[in-house]
Formats: sequence, C-alpha cells, structure tokens
Amino acid sequence: MIVDPSGAVCGARITDVDLSEPLAADMIAQIRSTWIDHKVVAFPDQQMDDDALERFTLAMGGFGKDPFFDPIQGRENIAAILREADETSPLFAENWHSDWSFLDHPPAGTCLLSIEIPPTGGDTLFADQVAAFEALPIERQEYLRTLTAVHSAKLAYAPDGSYGDKDRDNGRSMAIRPDESANETRAHPLIQRHPESGKEAIFSTLGYIIGIEGMDQSEAVQLLMDLAEWQARDEFIYRHKWEPDMLIMWDNRSVLHKATGGYEGHRRELHRTTIAAHAG
Ligand code: SIN
Repeated sequence: MIVDPSGAVCGARITDVDLSEPLAADMIAQIRSTWIDHKVVAFPDQQMDDDALERFTLAMGGFGKDPFFDPIQGRENIAAILREADETSPLFAENWHSDWSFLDHPPAGTCLLSIEIPPTGGDTLFADQVAAFEALPIERQEYLRTLTAVHSAKLAYAPDGSYGDKDRDNGRSMAIRPDESANETRAHPLIQRHPESGKEAIFSTLGYIIGIEGMDQSEAVQLLMDLAEWQARDEFIYRHKWEPDMLIMWDNRSVLHKATGGYEGHRRELHRTTIAAHAG
C-alpha cells in the first residue's frame, strides 16, 4: 500500500490496494491507522460495487446509525448522495458539519464512493479540527475545554427545518426523511479527545449545535459564530477533488466537511455509509 499525503493540513491518497476484494487483517489495520493519522483518505481507481462498499465499512468498524435518510433500494446501510443534472433544490450538506453529531454515539467515520462524478465542481471540503484546536492560544483552549455543546438536528431535519416541509416542493432527488425526532437534543463536550489518536479536536459547528449549556443564548451564538470562522480558516482546509471509481473515508472526530456546487447541468451521485463509533 502506497500513501501520498495531500500536501494540505490533512488528507492522503492510498494506492496499491484493491478494495473490490476482502482485505487481510494486517491491511485493514494499516488502512485504519493511515486514516487516523491523515483524517481523510482517498482510494483512486477502485472497482467497487455496493457489496464491496459494505464489506469495507464492516472491516473499518461496522455500520453507524443513519437517521433522516432512506437507504437505497435493497440495502439497509447505504444512502445515495444524489443531485440530478436539472435539479434546482438548495445544495445538500453545504454547511460545515460532522456527520450526525446530534446522536448519542455519532459515527466515527463516513465512506463515500463515487458512482457518477461531474466533469467539474462538486469538490468536498474538509477542515482539520485537531489543527484548528492546536492553533488556538492556550487560554482559549482551556476555556473551550470547560464548555458543553447542545447538539440537535432540528435546524435541518425537523418538519420546519431546512430539509423539512418547505423543501418538499424543491424537487430534491435525495431520499431525505425529516421527522419530529430531529427536535431532540444531546450534550457533547465542545472539545473532544480522539479515542484512538489521543488528540483533542473541536467537535462540530453551527449547523448541529444550538447552544452551550449554562450560557446565555446570544452569548453562545456569538461564541459559536466566532469559533466557526476560526474552524474553517484556509490553513485548516483540504479540498478533495473527486475522480470516477474513487472511495474516500473521513474521520468525523477529527474533521468537519461540506459539499460544494459548481456542476450545474451535470448529475452527481455517491454512495455513502457511516462507520460506527467505538471501533478499533
Ligand atoms: C456529505 O456531507 O455527506 C456529502 C458531501 C458531498 O456531497 O460532497
């Protein structure tokens, strides 16, 4: 297996490995540790179908829970990230986030397999939250460690959220299924230590955090907005450019991610699985 770091703050390309076949235990261990080190890994030139995607996800730690999406037909754990060529609905996942951070046990990672890639645009951006935390002044780090964030999916997936009732007539092709359970809240420390690397990271951002425990709401919103600006500074970003036949896997405990547009008139489809926490 050959590992080429992206040259940005995180991200690496892994070649000389065939993910269409079952992997030996030592190869699984090597891939996992490269993933933990680089936070986002891309495997070009893979001939993977949905069986191979499921097998790879199981090898990396097993399936995470996926609320608010219907899976693709015939599979329980694969969702399609899909945008038709003529679609005009607001872009899916265009805000920085860590997948499903509002769950009790958010997924450790996410896999995304290219099915149809537009000739231009559609890059996925990643923001390294270990680097973002480490670059803060010590006093700020100490203060942030004392805070507990209140996470919720309500702004996105509640019936009155951005993917709720008002999105219904937008002609969205993705199988998003909003419901009332999105209004639930869960508390997570704002700064979390990675269970495998031992490094601290800022966990998640505005989209899924609706407040800070014990803090006045306007003060919390101001803090979260200032922090969000810091979390997405240029020096913390890796821009992932998609290729056909490519799988990527990212670590939700170490990076934020967001989708980008720029492929109007072209179809884009990727198959996605999440990797359960407490793996490794
Ligand atoms: C996602 O957030 O799962 C999708 C990212 C993308 O479409 O680039």
